[in-house]
Amino acid sequence: MQKIYLDQASTSFPKAPGTAEAVYRYMTDCGCNVGRGGYAGAYSAEELVYDTRALICRMFGGSGGTIQPKNVLFTKNVTESLNILIKGLLRPGDHVLVSSMEHNAVMRPLVQMEKQGIRFTRVPCAEDGTMDPAEAEARIEAQTKAFIMLHASNVCGTVLPAAEIGALCRAHGICFILDTAQTAGVLPLDMEAMHIDALAFTGHKGLLGPQGTGGFLIRDELIGEMEPLIAGGTGSISHTEDIPDFLPDRFEAGTLNLPGIAGLHASVEWLLAQPEGSIFAHEKRLTEHFLSGLKPLEDGGMLRIVGKHDTEQRTSVVSVVPLHSDPAEVAFRLDEKYGIATRVGLHCAPSAHRTLRTFPTGTIRFSFGYANTESEADAAVTALKALCCPERKTWN
Ligand code: ALA
Repeated sequence: MQKIYLDQASTSFPKAPGTAEAVYRYMTDCGCNVGRGGYAGAYSAEELVYDTRALICRMFGGSGGTIQPKNVLFTKNVTESLNILIKGLLRPGDHVLVSSMEHNAVMRPLVQMEKQGIRFTRVPCAEDGTMDPAEAEARIEAQTKAFIMLHASNVCGTVLPAAEIGALCRAHGICFILDTAQTAGVLPLDMEAMHIDALAFTGHKGLLGPQGTGGFLIRDELIGEMEPLIAGGTGSISHTEDIPDFLPDRFEAGTLNLPGIAGLHASVEWLLAQPEGSIFAHEKRLTEHFLSGLKPLEDGGMLRIVGKHDTEQRTSVVSVVPLHSDPAEVAFRLDEKYGIATRVGLHCAPSAHRTLRTFPTGTIRFSFGYANTESEADAAVTALKALCCPERKTWN
């Protein structure tokens, strides 16, 4: 049976050409640590890490020069990045705004911090996941320190108005933290133009790199306000037990995931070499094709398409709810009978599912990447048609 991977929102597959080879090359040809040794291998590893910071800076930083390679910090994933930012920045008494579409990578640290006297307000989004910036502005308080928001929903693909929220935050002196888990490497991002103070990214989704890679970019102005979550050896100013006050060392204690960074270097280099916007254009075409295939199934009362029904301001993530069968059962059969991998349930985003009115049952989520094809999207429609049909009596 053919295997069709439509769970790109969870982690991308295949990775960018050359990524696995770069991990292997680092492990076999270099293998040295960074900032700890005074020999050629250590210098070449150092160069690799610096070059990766520079590539990521080029991708997200903007052209004004305020974001430099040193402002790119590596972590193991976007969740770790968000924890470092949220726990490092907020103090008792602070108030935070979030969208009602957030993932638990934002919500769990905030709920954890409620015990320390941090408050948050969810800006309500519409039933298709869209947000009206006026709803956000109306909820700003004197104590509002930050707006923390995902760029696109991992449940239904709706893109939130990041540039508008950035401008709003700048006008009100609020720190704007953007979670780009679903958009880094897919949608254009420019920290300067979009007034983003800190941008959290993961390496293993749209950036097509290895799992265990990620990071954040941060403006110089925030560094003094942020207490590092993790302290330890950095290979620098080793005569003191104080945490360095300079970047990147302030937020990068301990040995980095160097094989992963080697892979991320290769994947980001490959992405930057593609014609601008071409990957997103391909994914958008697939999403359009898939949505138009699903429409007759929705009109025929077999399933509900969750979120936006068009391809404007959305990524290639599509969620559906079968109207006559259990989503988990359908997802199981999609894999077992048709070889189609999807993600079913609540996608670590209960707040988003409440907004989309799909809580607590959840949805079946299909997500497309650069290597998926129209015939794979067609196969998913055909399978859904068979599995969601109201006349189906048995599963065999
Ligand atoms: N947050 C990822 C997802 O939506 C893992 O699947």
